Amino acid sequence: CGIVGYVGGRNALDVVMAGLRRLEYRGYDSAGVAVLADGGMAASRKAGKLANLEKELAEHPLPSGQTGIGHTRWATHGAPTDQNAHPHLDNSGRVAVVHNGIIENYAELRAELADRGHELTSETDTEVVAHLLAECFSATGDLAEAMRQVCRRLAGAFTLVAVAVDDPDVVVGARRNSPLVVGVGDGEHFLASDVAAFIAHTREAIELGQDQVVELRTGGARVTDFAGAPAEVRTYHVDWDASAAEKSGYDYFMLKEIAEQPRAVADTLLGRIDAAGSLTLDEVRIPDSELREVDKVVIVACGTAYHAGMIAKYAIEHWTRTPCETELASEFRYRDPILDNRTLVIAVSQSGETMDTLMALRHAREQGAKVLAICNTNGSTIPRESDAVLYTHAGPETAVASTKAFLTQLVACYLVALYLGQVRGTKWGDEVGAVIRELSEIGTQVEQVLATMEPVRELARGLADKNTVLFLGRHVGYPVALEGALKLKELAYMHAEGFAAGELKHGPIALIEQDVPVVVVVPAPRGRSVLHDKIVSNIQEIRARGARTIVIAEEGDATVRPYADHLIEIPATPTLLQPVVATVPLQVFACELATARGNEVDQPRNLAKSVTVE
Ligand code: G6P
Repeated sequence: CGIVGYVGGRNALDVVMAGLRRLEYRGYDSAGVAVLADGGMAASRKAGKLANLEKELAEHPLPSGQTGIGHTRWATHGAPTDQNAHPHLDNSGRVAVVHNGIIENYAELRAELADRGHELTSETDTEVVAHLLAECFSATGDLAEAMRQVCRRLAGAFTLVAVAVDDPDVVVGARRNSPLVVGVGDGEHFLASDVAAFIAHTREAIELGQDQVVELRTGGARVTDFAGAPAEVRTYHVDWDASAAEKSGYDYFMLKEIAEQPRAVADTLLGRIDAAGSLTLDEVRIPDSELREVDKVVIVACGTAYHAGMIAKYAIEHWTRTPCETELASEFRYRDPILDNRTLVIAVSQSGETMDTLMALRHAREQGAKVLAICNTNGSTIPRESDAVLYTHAGPETAVASTKAFLTQLVACYLVALYLGQVRGTKWGDEVGAVIRELSEIGTQVEQVLATMEPVRELARGLADKNTVLFLGRHVGYPVALEGALKLKELAYMHAEGFAAGELKHGPIALIEQDVPVVVVVPAPRGRSVLHDKIVSNIQEIRARGARTIVIAEEGDATVRPYADHLIEIPATPTLLQPVVATVPLQVFACELATARGNEVDQPRNLAKSVTVE
């Protein structure tokens, strides 16, 4: 969910609504606002996208006030209805709360409140907070203190922001796990899940830590822990260009983000390869001596980041000869994995907030493992809690389906793999030196791919009425196939599956029937990949059974031509780097198919960009 709070001299509703527009990627099941105006509380909330709330506010305007909060929701407890939308108010209507996360002991708190005569009207866990907060506030007369008392009673992960009619110049926020950032302006303060919500007004920010409460007034922000002890805060400057959070003429953020990939990839490499062709990852604060001791690497991640992690496994094992496994973060800690202080855990996350990944890294650290984060969001929770971080420099990614973040995650994974190889002295020779040179060219190759995408778009439009698309790949092409299928599920809502091509004969081939589109990612031609000919045989096998083959192959690979109903050519790269160029057509394909099917490209149904619940 996305949260915004404001106190200052402007019309709070305008600031909050503009902030919510920037945060809508975090959830768009319903939205709501509350402002303190004319000595009372004015609130409005609506199921569905923010546009529904905007319409409601146009028809039924709220009075203007200078203190307000807002929320855009990704439903957990309770369906996305008007009733369940945030803010939630207590029975007197004098306290309003917005919330991100899950309150695990809400059933017990709800029963307790009902015993005391409170009437709860929604199915959400948030409503109990509004009621508890109103009780504590009437007892203490201090909203921040009331918030601290309530937080001490809550179990689970939550971020809360509240306002009260009887303390009209204050916004109070509390953070456990999911992010909350303070924007420091001149005579005004902002609170938001992400700096994007206030970057148009100020670049000065304070990141709240775990279990902290902030009291915002026009003149200042006071941060304490849940017990009330003052907390030390660090103000930082946000160096994102505000225009990076705009669509800049593209119809969708996703199109813009796909187009930004050559730059994003180059930015992620910038300053990390020196003139002599060696890697300098100064930010990785794990001493080389400890990296030499590592005897196992475990990569944890979710969704698209997991696919980057799968590809990293091939690179790490090949270049460093260190055993590496990649696991879904949500599965990792529940199987009691074997970890110790010689294990390096790499947590890959665009947002740095994904709860499953965060929980996996906490578990890893408890077991004594070292954790390196690969992350795109400066100052987010996952890097803060890791031993070291290598930032990807994709810039803000707004479309829910990840594109440029994925490519930069791949680049960062290669850098880590090569660096480990460099430090540990394994396989360090011509191959790795050549790969580093190729890696520095990879942005240009992505650009070449992007320049040739019109036939892919045309192909996608022609497949808009299909129900199923299958994807095949081997070696690093297998995670690419999975990523291609994920993109299509997320965006086109089509049944899409990725398979390891070698497994075809063990089951999936039964799915092949007349005219089923099958996308095949072909490795480098014979001589550079031992798998090439095996995949070409797979293409023949499925074509013989009626499949419509869409083949992604290296330019000049003549052997695949006779079997490709559609051929998509990509530049030649070393095998391990091929995913960077091979994924791009799949992103374009999914985006165009979604558009052709009339779907919302940037905000696919039921999804959210950062999932801050387990
Ligand atoms: C969500 C998003 C995916 C993303 C995944 C991991 O499910 O919809 O696009 O890949 O989270 O996100 P992270 O921020 O950890 O990379």
